[in-house]
Amino acid sequence: QDRRVDGIKASIRVVPDFPKKGIMFQDITTLLLEPKTFKNTVDLFVERYLGRDITVVAGIEARGFIFGPPIALAIGAKFVPLRKPQKLPGEVISEKYVLEYGTDCLEMHVGAVQPGDRALVVDDLVATGGTLCAAMNLLERAGAEVVECACVIELPKLKGSRKRCCLLIPFKWTRPVPSPDPL
Ligand code: PRP
Ligand code: MG
Repeated sequence: QDRRVDGIKASIRVVPDFPKKGIMFQDITTLLLEPKTFKNTVDLFVERYLGRDITVVAGIEARGFIFGPPIALAIGAKFVPLRKPQKLPGEVISEKYVLEYGTDCLEMHVGAVQPGDRALVVDDLVATGGTLCAAMNLLERAGAEVVECACVIELPKLKGSRKRCCLLIPFKWTRPVPSPDPL
């Protein structure tokens, strides 16, 4: 494994019982405080995706907006924000997904992605996979092919007892997409 990954992993602060008891919050803001580590994170993704004809990087609000744009710029792809409801001013398509309590929703502007686009989905972490599934559905409904999803952190079961996330760069989902686990 690439030595840069160790530095990235060490830079992520784990906050127990945030935002609620039993959750080990993976705080990437401490990674962002180290310019070299932030650059290494982006570089690892760029090295994987450069030259693979990716035409669109879709970043998931909010933390996918941190890692997505520098990757998009470096590989020469357009950046498309997938936003929480009622943030985008134009016509949108929406995709609901299940959360620990209740549901949430992601929206994308109609016309931002077109048939033939090759998409990379970027977010900071995957827990149940529900958010990534919704993102992939949006892109596919718009006619894009999802090449891969890239996340900095994998939190496989979203259980607070887990001592540390596994950091995985990159992460690949294969169909069929996982359904969110009830907690
Ligand atoms: C977190 C994280 C991922 C998502 C992963 O975002 O940034 O986007 O949860 O969870 P899942 O795999 O179980 O779907 P959150 O919705 O907390 O919001 P934020 O990024 O806006 O802070
Ligand atoms: Mg998020």
